[in-house]
Amino acid sequence: MSKRVLTTESGAPVADNQNSATAGVGGPILLQDQHLLEKLARFNRERIPERVVHARGSGAYGHFEVTDDVTGFTSADFLSEVGKKTETFLRFSTVADSLGGADAVRDPRGFALKFYTAEGNYDLVGNNTPVFFIKDPIKFPDFIHSQKRDPFTGKQEADNVWDFWAHAPEATHQVTWLMGDRGIPASYRHMNGYGSHTYQWTNAQGEAFFVKYHFKTNQGIRSLSADQAAELVGKDGNSHQTDLLQSIERGVYPSWTLYVQLMPAAEAADYRFNPFDLTKVWPHSDYPLQRVGRLVLDRNPDNVFAEVEQAAFSPNNFVPGIGPSPDKMLQGRLFAYADAHRYRLGVNHTLLPVNAPKATVANNYGRDGLMAANAQGRGAKNYEPNSFGGPVETGLPLSAPLAIHGYTGTHEAPAHTKDDDFFQAGELYRLMSEEEKQRLVANIAGGLSQVSRDDIIEKNIAHFAAADADYGKRVEEAVRALRD
Ligand code: HEM
Repeated sequence: MSKRVLTTESGAPVADNQNSATAGVGGPILLQDQHLLEKLARFNRERIPERVVHARGSGAYGHFEVTDDVTGFTSADFLSEVGKKTETFLRFSTVADSLGGADAVRDPRGFALKFYTAEGNYDLVGNNTPVFFIKDPIKFPDFIHSQKRDPFTGKQEADNVWDFWAHAPEATHQVTWLMGDRGIPASYRHMNGYGSHTYQWTNAQGEAFFVKYHFKTNQGIRSLSADQAAELVGKDGNSHQTDLLQSIERGVYPSWTLYVQLMPAAEAADYRFNPFDLTKVWPHSDYPLQRVGRLVLDRNPDNVFAEVEQAAFSPNNFVPGIGPSPDKMLQGRLFAYADAHRYRLGVNHTLLPVNAPKATVANNYGRDGLMAANAQGRGAKNYEPNSFGGPVETGLPLSAPLAIHGYTGTHEAPAHTKDDDFFQAGELYRLMSEEEKQRLVANIAGGLSQVSRDDIIEKNIAHFAAADADYGKRVEEAVRALRD
């Protein structure tokens, strides 16, 4: 086999890739050694800003196949026929740690899914938990600051973690979930994915439904205890990445079955829980799961940096027939992600192969910017409207309009009849077996007992007690036993 010649970035052959050019044998290096200069300079620029959250992750390609007819609820083209297949890319992640952090830790997992549909890319950027810690995006930067490394100590601090939760009673439900058995998934393959938010579906007749997405793992749920996780982290910090990569390379393709809960839009106002409150679930007895299709991951990316690190998912990438709900958290996210991408990857990140549409082409008048690679054909106009056959708007709404009323202002989310910060956390606790309760309490006490201030501990215990008196009492006793 003839050897390919090593070249500089401009394509010129490289004479020596082992010795830099010097002024005489043993002399200083010459500035004219273009290959050395380019190699070192290029190397210095290999890293880009990491994601401010969900920095550590793994990704894979696959497809989604519709198994059940949902055309009565959404006009989305990729869901329009049983048997229809759409190419997908899924990035899993942990949340709090920086790039290089360990995989097997107690933390929610990201479940960010891109459907490359014929009507554009649809991004569903969810987690492995059906709820979240907060319900207003204005709290998100404070929340994340409290969970990531402390600016002084440079490590995660129990004081910060629990101080935030002491001031956020609405987090009790998600904290109960996180500290429970599912808090450390055994791998990305052995956990569910949830859209978490409520979204809107609109059918061809223009009728609106609110929808929650549930991707149930077909591998079965498997989780690790705190001890098992600590041992695994010591052996393989990249355990989730190893598992996903090797499983797909072996031809053992992980899959998830997608179910949805659907609520006719007219029922939202009087539902017992605020359906747009991200700290709440809709009990399945109120809105049962309906099967939609199957997601399979069957191809590893060729290059982790190009395809996983540079992947960009944004909750505001909708397709016709799917839209946002008034969930305030979701509304905040509609801004935050594309803004993060413009900072992290640049304004032309949508041109990268992993982010560009695959089943259609993007046609618009956005132009230029750093790293523009979308040279438009000769004579293509860069303004709209124009008289030269450029792309035009459809005039068709993407989703049904929703009625709003009231006054502008900094309002708390409206409380429905059964809404408080604790009821659903208590329900989750009461569902657990005795052994599960014991593990939950031990996990909470393990963290909470490390907090330096009694008032922060007491406030957190009060939240668990408000969810369920027995829950609060047990946490209090377990914390006391560890601190005495
Ligand atoms: C107002 C609340 C939130 C804000 C402002 C926010 C903001 C962000 C930002 C800025 C990123 C980094 C994006 C990037 O650099 O590519 C990110 C990543 C992510 N967020 Fe959020 N987030 C919020 C809540 C949530 C919630 C509730 C979920 C899940 C239900 C979620 C799931 C994710 C996932 C999965 C990623 C990683 C996406 C990927 O793999 O590239 N976030 N978030």
